[in-house]
Amino acid sequence: MSFFKSKTFNLPKATPTIRTERVPDSKKPAPLPSKVTSATSSHARRSEASPSRTAYSTARSSPATPPSDGHGSSRLKPGKRKASRQKSPVQQHLSSDSEDEESVEAPAESYKRQKASRKIDMTRQLRSKQAFSEADGGVFEMIHAADVSSVSKKSKLATIVPTENVTVELKYPSSSQRERYNLVFGNDNINPTEEILEIAKIVADVYLAEEQKDAFCNPTSGLIRQLEKAKNLLSSTRDITNKVLLDGFKKAVENYNLTIEGLLEEGALATNLDAMHHLPLRMVHYILQQVYDRAVSPKVELLKHYENGTDNIYGELEKPFISKVLAKVGLTSDQVFVDLGSGVGNVVLQAALEFGCESWGCEMMENACKLAEAQEKEFAARCRLWGIQTGKVQLERGDFLVNQEILKTIKRADVILVNNQAFTPQLNQNLIHLFLDLRDGCKIISLKQFGVDQISSRKANDPANVLDYTELEYFSGSVSWTNANGHYFIAEKDSKRLEGFA
Ligand SMILES: C[S@@+](CC[C@H](N)C(=O)[O-])C[C@H]1O[C@@H](n2cnc3c(N)ncnc32)[C@H](O)[C@@H]1O
Repeated sequence: MSFFKSKTFNLPKATPTIRTERVPDSKKPAPLPSKVTSATSSHARRSEASPSRTAYSTARSSPATPPSDGHGSSRLKPGKRKASRQKSPVQQHLSSDSEDEESVEAPAESYKRQKASRKIDMTRQLRSKQAFSEADGGVFEMIHAADVSSVSKKSKLATIVPTENVTVELKYPSSSQRERYNLVFGNDNINPTEEILEIAKIVADVYLAEEQKDAFCNPTSGLIRQLEKAKNLLSSTRDITNKVLLDGFKKAVENYNLTIEGLLEEGALATNLDAMHHLPLRMVHYILQQVYDRAVSPKVELLKHYENGTDNIYGELEKPFISKVLAKVGLTSDQVFVDLGSGVGNVVLQAALEFGCESWGCEMMENACKLAEAQEKEFAARCRLWGIQTGKVQLERGDFLVNQEILKTIKRADVILVNNQAFTPQLNQNLIHLFLDLRDGCKIISLKQFGVDQISSRKANDPANVLDYTELEYFSGSVSWTNANGHYFIAEKDSKRLEGFA
């Protein structure tokens, strides 16, 4: 699917006010490895159902730190890093789509770069108290995988497979209800056995201390091995009427569920989560994909209705790119983030989950707003399943140039994102006037500079001068509308610059 096709979206020439920087940490994502992990392949398949046309995943090893917060913040002392370390089977399975997730075996140079690119936000609390409380029995509204599977959609399949034969329930690492899956394979967006296996791997990697891992990761008898074997048997036949194989997989899931419930009762999962301050990107991206698969993918057609040549052309930034740019501007849990033109809310939700910040969005297209609201609801439910506390999310409807809540919020914003690749020159010019209200130091991430289309009118008192731009390069797989490389900008509001020009 191609978005932003028109030539008018070519980037303007850089003006003298821009510094151009080749991002040192923006390596072109590595090509897919020959051994594609289950999550990678399922993501590639899923991306067909999104407005994004590319699969972006790359596979790298995650850090081997128990329980991992992606950086081993509380357990791996700086300077005490081992040169090489044996990875557990789970860690070997878990690949990462981000440079921040590279293993401790990474070359020293690239390890230093990661450390420099993201500081651990020690004030971030990850555990949701509500998710670990028994107060309301952990029952709440959510979209179960089974709700979007073909047997639930009254298809032909539903007439040949009794639902009770194929339904299995999965326990997440919290006191919340289990999620229902239907073990059917076909055109469904969610592959239930792959997803359950991937969740088990993430839980083992992130939520468990080293001494708790053997039950999950033992290569011959561990719960993950049991799930893997049962999954392979089931998917090799793809025969959803084979009750023996179905029951084999259900049994493996039940063993897994009981172990998780035991750890919950002991308080081990809550204790481990309390010691962490950072979520591995692999987990962040997976939760967001689960939300998207349930709330947006089934209705993704709605996003294709927009008028070319207007400000309402739809396209999305991909998760690894969002992680990278938000880390680059140093977003932290005590800050305020705003996405102007937030579409289905992807970036808003990612900022709240990954960085724990207060996260705002504003969107004017009706269909995108509806999907954003569906995502917001599912996001809250799913983070509760995973036991994770996110930053506050606030999605506004309407024109960000006039929405009163947005006009108030941008005055205290620390980071603003505008995916303005396809905005009209007039809207980009109007945004400059909005930015006069920002506080000094506020960072604005955009795909185009603001006001440069009207560069001939640029003069000393041009409000565009309050922005100090850095031009950066993004690589293939960063945005949904092209596989090609491109440019983006990080501007910093500095009102003294205007006085300087004057
Ligand atoms: C390219 S999409 C970006 C979606 C999301 N921010 C992302 O980067 O993945 C841009 C969105 O901005 C919205 N938009 C354009 N002008 C707007 C305005 N004045 N007020 C609110 N939304 C606007 C469009 O409807 C569109 O959904």
